[in-house]
Amino acid sequence: MIRIGMLTSGGDCQALNAAMRGVAKTLFNSKEDVEIYGFLNGYQGLIHGKFRLLTYNDFTGILTQGGTFLGTSRTPFKTIQIPDEDSLDKVAAMKQNYYKLQLDCLVILGGNGTHKTANLLREQGLNVITLPKTIDNDLWGTDMTFGFQSAVDIATDAIDCIHTTAASHGRIFIVEVMGHKVGWLTLNAGMAGGADIILIPEIPYDLDKIVKKIKERHDQGSRFTILAVAEGAISKEDAKLSKKELKKKMENYKYPSVSYEIAEQLAKKSGLEVRVTVPGHTQRGGSPCPYDRVFASRLGSEAGKLILKREFGFMVGYRNREIVKVPLEDVAGKLKMVDPNATIVKEAKMLGISFGD
Ligand code: F6P
Repeated sequence: MIRIGMLTSGGDCQALNAAMRGVAKTLFNSKEDVEIYGFLNGYQGLIHGKFRLLTYNDFTGILTQGGTFLGTSRTPFKTIQIPDEDSLDKVAAMKQNYYKLQLDCLVILGGNGTHKTANLLREQGLNVITLPKTIDNDLWGTDMTFGFQSAVDIATDAIDCIHTTAASHGRIFIVEVMGHKVGWLTLNAGMAGGADIILIPEIPYDLDKIVKKIKERHDQGSRFTILAVAEGAISKEDAKLSKKELKKKMENYKYPSVSYEIAEQLAKKSGLEVRVTVPGHTQRGGSPCPYDRVFASRLGSEAGKLILKREFGFMVGYRNREIVKVPLEDVAGKLKMVDPNATIVKEAKMLGISFGD
């Protein structure tokens, strides 16, 4: 008999259900007796003992469904070791529920914050296997996370739609792309959507360089310009500020997001009409794309294989086109950012894309 607990934590993304189905089908199709307990709404379910016993049927018909059938929540790592308002020791509570159910392993699907807590639970002696989910693709130790390709598709669609209206009106358009503190999603959707300017957190921008690029395009006869701007994009001036100074600036920040700040400054400097489009959480919604369905199923299946071999303490990741197991202690707390000197950035520049640097 093997007994596992499963949970999804942090912001949702496409293919969470496909990944859980991959784990469950692999286990149910093995020769072992298997019990799977699903904890509801992320670590909250594990902390407060909210779970249900799942059957084979819970995992059928969910391959194509977005979201997570277990529900999710954000339980920030920085709060995990601080007792809550009822003086509950969250780590002790999670351990207690794990032992009460006599679990052999926890399967945890999540991004950066989730991995820090997963690693803490491993350090506390629990058996843990994790799967890398996030549209941001910022998890260290894996070239790709599931959810990312689906989000690239949606953000690209948004840029495609903006392209036609921008061309008709001869306007400057900013499409703001998610990605938190990294630029993977913006870089990929920007290139796929034929953006003229791509601004990512890893390459601070200079507004004058952006204006120069727009002018160049106008001189070459293009009436419109598309900017793909990461929600975490930062100007060269702001990048020089200390954390404290930046925090102070943000206290009096009057814009809903960086794109609106850039839009106002661009309109002033160029005298052109600028519009902002923010696809926002649509990038995390809807069905997973076929790539993510296959990718998440493969990762899930490999996770199932590790569990059957009683190999714990790993994230199942993807490197150099191979599925690999990465020690959790290597993953936790590290961010995978776009290298400003990466080949893909150089190629984008050779295509004439400006990064505003
Ligand atoms: O990590 C995924 C993500 O969608 C980021 O791209 C974005 O910054 C953040 O989550 C939004 O979080 P929330 O859904 O809590 O607003």
